[in-house]
Amino acid sequence: MSPANWPVDEARLWADAMALGDLTEPDVPYTRRAFSEMFLKGRDYLTARFQTAGLETSIDAAGNLIGRRAGSAPELGTLIIGSHSDTVPGGGRFDGVAGVLAGLEVARALKDAGITLRHNLEIVDCLAEEMSVFGLSCIGSRGMTGHLEPDMLAYQNPEGEDLAAGIARMGGDVTRLPQVVRDDICAYLELHIEQGRVLESAGEDIGVVTNIVGIMRLEITVTGLADHAGTTPMDLRRDALSGAVEVVAAIRDKAREIAGRGEGYFVATTGEFDIQPGAANVVPREVRLVIDARAENPALMQEFLRFAQNDLASLVSAQGAEFSELKVLSDSAHTECDDALQEQLAQAAEGLGLKWRRMASGAGHDAVFFSRIAPAAMIFIPCRAGRSHTPEEWTEPGQLSAGAAVLFETIRQLDAAEGAAAAEITANKEE
Ligand code: HGY
Ligand code: MN
Ligand code: MN
Repeated sequence: MSPANWPVDEARLWADAMALGDLTEPDVPYTRRAFSEMFLKGRDYLTARFQTAGLETSIDAAGNLIGRRAGSAPELGTLIIGSHSDTVPGGGRFDGVAGVLAGLEVARALKDAGITLRHNLEIVDCLAEEMSVFGLSCIGSRGMTGHLEPDMLAYQNPEGEDLAAGIARMGGDVTRLPQVVRDDICAYLELHIEQGRVLESAGEDIGVVTNIVGIMRLEITVTGLADHAGTTPMDLRRDALSGAVEVVAAIRDKAREIAGRGEGYFVATTGEFDIQPGAANVVPREVRLVIDARAENPALMQEFLRFAQNDLASLVSAQGAEFSELKVLSDSAHTECDDALQEQLAQAAEGLGLKWRRMASGAGHDAVFFSRIAPAAMIFIPCRAGRSHTPEEWTEPGQLSAGAAVLFETIRQLDAAEGAAAAEITANKEE
């Protein structure tokens, strides 16, 4: 098949991506951080487009936006296409958004073709997939799959609001969380921009994701003593920042050492670094660091955690400061994508005449949590120069629509195959 007779409407899909990109904090392209007013503007846009597509819209207890179309045999369960519409600060137009809009386009294309699936179909915009102001990511997908732990609901944003209140502001209700953990999901599919340069370098169209890296996030607090920067001699200072920079360097060096061993993919980043009080003429009182570590091999992640717990305090105290706290904010295990779904996605790409490969994901995704309760799999579309989490992020209209076409074909195959399989199970039960 060529783009001309692909089932999806490339121009319609692309127009939505550009329109959402225009909904960004003024002068900070492209920013719609979860829990912000601008994020809600993006939600309003998506809700209207879901409704125009004939989807029944709702916000679940975890704050996820759901567009639903009942199937002709709803007892077969639900096929979900999901991702997220929130961004990092100064992020791109496609990270997450491409997946939500590709799902919407599948729903529209099915409607245009007069196709009613046996299964229920849901397009889900998961709340706060990105690292949020509450120090947690994948909040909506954790909630929908029973992995939003009670202690996480007490995490606070810089204004002192707790996550439970934040979710309520997004239309959720954490008191109902236990009732809304899903048990009806037959398959979860997610399209995502690759956020790397493998597909572009190989001139390929689709990445069928085999596994998703494990992610651990650590919050470290280094404490010193605020003092006058002009009158406090160097040898009398307890400078928190002098201790914190030792931590950053040691984390970097340890990550390089582990990654260099060839025992599996490993990276670590100090991505947040907050100095208090943060004035040039005050010796820093406290520094809060957040470290993002990723590993395919759980043993490497445990080694890194032990290093952080045991080897950093002495570096900090040598600078006269105190390593006062290390908190594991989150720890999501390395995830294998469902083999049968990978095969379905690969066959769909093949059938559309697309070049595809199987590949791992160094980025985290909502699919990780769905995979804990249902078969889940992902496809990547090419990302120009591999740039992501930056306004330069880009993919081409034809690449986005090719990915949507693969989802369309896969959903149809799943609906037919699963429907048959489920019918067989029911028949067996009746014998
Ligand atoms: O950080 C990640 O891996 C994803 O882009 N949220
Ligand atoms: Mn993403
Ligand atoms: Mn991201």
